Amino acid sequence: MEQYRIRGGNRLQGALKLQGAKNSALPILAAALLPGGVSEIHNCPQLSDTRRTLDILEHLGCGVSREGDVVTVDPSGAYRWEVPAPLVRSMRSSIIFLGAMVARFGRARLTYPGGCELGPRPIDLHLCALRQMAVQVEETGGDLWCTAPQGLCGARIVLLFPSVGATENILLAAATARGVTRVTNAAREPEIVDLADYLIRRGAKISGAGEGELTVEGVPRLCGAAHRIMGDRIAAATYLAAAAATGGSLSLCGAAPGTLAAVLPVLEKAGCQIETAGQTIALRAPERLRPLGVVRTMPYPGFPTDAQAPFLALSLLARGSSVFVENIFESRYKHVAELRRMGGRVEVEGRVAVAEGLGQLHSADVAATELRGGAALVLAALAAQGESRVSGAGYIDRGYEKFEDSLLSLGAEIQRMPWDEKAE
Ligand code: UD1
Repeated sequence: MEQYRIRGGNRLQGALKLQGAKNSALPILAAALLPGGVSEIHNCPQLSDTRRTLDILEHLGCGVSREGDVVTVDPSGAYRWEVPAPLVRSMRSSIIFLGAMVARFGRARLTYPGGCELGPRPIDLHLCALRQMAVQVEETGGDLWCTAPQGLCGARIVLLFPSVGATENILLAAATARGVTRVTNAAREPEIVDLADYLIRRGAKISGAGEGELTVEGVPRLCGAAHRIMGDRIAAATYLAAAAATGGSLSLCGAAPGTLAAVLPVLEKAGCQIETAGQTIALRAPERLRPLGVVRTMPYPGFPTDAQAPFLALSLLARGSSVFVENIFESRYKHVAELRRMGGRVEVEGRVAVAEGLGQLHSADVAATELRGGAALVLAALAAQGESRVSGAGYIDRGYEKFEDSLLSLGAEIQRMPWDEKAE
């Protein structure tokens, strides 16, 4: 895997056009498999995860093409109903194909996705919901076999936790199921609203997306449609935090400020000036960052777990203590050990991390082991004095489009290089 060489200390300054949202693109591309016409997906980010999702669609027999940020998916020729194990293992979110394949073929086979770098990631809520929709699920030899011999049926589903992935799988399964599906405690993330908007354009009957109570009235078949993917609020949070960490200023266009309602006040608490107008967010960092207070990750509209790592890195550039409480994933502080190598003082106990910001970090060679933690290390290296190397660039490619080009355009000194094994 490649690495980044970063000479820190430059203020990030300038304007950036935000990429399309990874977490919208993945379920929307999976939904393009549903029976009906051709989907034209605009603002589809060029990421390794979207590439893998397109590989899955091609493997299933869909016609797929990409021109710039526009992806076209023709599902008419799809004939396979299993996703190869290496693809499932390389991208846990391929679980989203379960709902799409059962809806399309009445059956699906997938390797059990298992845990990931964020800790155990069960799929019990997905499977329980599908069972309620008349899907028979068998788990044998590490594989999941799903069949719906009588077709999918609408159901009344209460989610014990507002899981994003489970809500998406239900939407995909319910869109063309027989009857009405009602979901209580559905996830309210903006990406759910984006997926519902896309399905509605294709003729699905969905109401309540983003409100926690979802109703889907199944239709026999969808039609083709064009859809533009929303801006990536997590990439937005990362770039804003990077500008803040380096004492810079950034104008981000293509970001809906409403989707960052829990994030922007944290930046303001740190002393940043934020102005929003339409789809543009402008940030100006203070000369001295203030601590961030208590940041609790929560399901939307709370503070996103995916922004925790970059904000923890940011908190180390402030003087004083900030507290993080990770309520979504069990094991989401792997970046902390690497931040300590850069002089960060962070104590972790269970779900709580206390960051004792010293107002500075020093350069070091550190290792990214997952996407958002990796972005946090790059952010820390951009703010630290001296030259750092961040290995594991491939993890960052999963979620940030043209990451180094974007940072270079803002004045960062960052270079992508092959991993030098001898230097480790
Ligand atoms: C999605 C996002 C991910 C984000 C997460 C939370 C995508 C591709 N990924 O992941 O970036 O961090 O939402 O906002 O959109 N859980 C169960 N049983 C289940 C499903 C989930 O216990 O069947 C638990 C998980 O272990 C986790 C929590 O619920 O602790 C949240 O998971 P979920 O909302 O499902 O996240 P993902 O859809 O996997």
